[in-house]
Amino acid sequence: MKVAVLGAAGGIGQALALLLKTQLPAGSELTLYDIAAVTPGVAVDLSHIPTAVKIQGFSGEDATPALTGADVVLISAGVARKPGMDRADLFNVNAGIVRNLIDQVAQTAPKALIGVITNPVNTTVAIAAEVLKKHGVYDKNRLFGVTTLDIIRANTFVAELKGKSPGDIEVPVIGGHSGVTILPLLSQVKGVSFSDQEVRDLTKRIQNAGTEVVEAKAGGGSATLSMGQAAARLGLSLVRALQGEENVVECAYVEGDGEYARFFSQPLLLGKNGVAERKPLGNLSSFEQQALDGMLETLKKDIAQGEEFVKQ
Ligand code: NAD
Ligand code: LMR
Repeated sequence: MKVAVLGAAGGIGQALALLLKTQLPAGSELTLYDIAAVTPGVAVDLSHIPTAVKIQGFSGEDATPALTGADVVLISAGVARKPGMDRADLFNVNAGIVRNLIDQVAQTAPKALIGVITNPVNTTVAIAAEVLKKHGVYDKNRLFGVTTLDIIRANTFVAELKGKSPGDIEVPVIGGHSGVTILPLLSQVKGVSFSDQEVRDLTKRIQNAGTEVVEAKAGGGSATLSMGQAAARLGLSLVRALQGEENVVECAYVEGDGEYARFFSQPLLLGKNGVAERKPLGNLSSFEQQALDGMLETLKKDIAQGEEFVKQ
């Protein structure tokens, strides 16, 4: 298996690269790419960790050497929020970065499973899909917006509130990755129950958790370490599914049948070709149904912005 991280010299990229270097299966290859000149050095640093994962780093304008033969590509290249900003404020800079990188993925690793971390995810995934389409290589089962951070946050906050072990809690989070489009399905968490007030408070905290980190870092960026963990979880799940492991299920933001919006995060069964099955959302509480109905206009607008960007 070969995994490429694009944006690998950044806060997320370095944390993610460390976790992949220590957790990818023996015999895997890990390549790091970033425009920052330090990237080959980051790879040299990580190469001293004694695992059977071969690592190489590349910098400059050309991602091709990192992408050649990649099975999984994880993209965290781009700018991050500062206090007072919304994720949508990142669009102007990050849209072009994602378009450029996906162009290169389409040419060099058209069959790779792609995980887009770069914000605003609701929009950058639509950009990625349209660029891949232009190249004639789009497969909706192979493109993922990474929303795993919402799931691990939800698991942590629920476990804290209910005095459970975080490893025993799994909260499906559906929709998108910003504000009201983030919807944790707390009614489906096994082994715990919540009062109406707890549901309202937890939902709000999960939706605002990114801002909680942005404000705590006070101008120093957004979540990087928890995001590294989240991206590693999804990346390793994709690798396990590619290697034939069964019953690998993760929530991610993918193109579905359009029942809610063209792209929508939901539980997915992963397989050797990416998404093997989009799982039904299951029963929603009336609070969740209302929140789902209420998010769709925002989500569709975010998606349309990405589609328009590539058309222009
Ligand atoms: P960072 O500034 O620490 O790192 C970004 C890296 O991208 C830098 O090393 C930079 O050199 C590199 N870069 C910029 N343009 C590039 C290009 N054209 N090609 C290759 N590399 C390029 O930022 P970060 O904290 O790692 O965040 C990265 C992105 O991830 C941001 O857009 C942020 O909003 C997003 N993010 C998403 C989630 C999520 O849940 N999906 C969570 C946290 C952050
Ligand atoms: C997060 O959820 O932490 C990320 O999307 C970064 C951000 O800007 O909030």
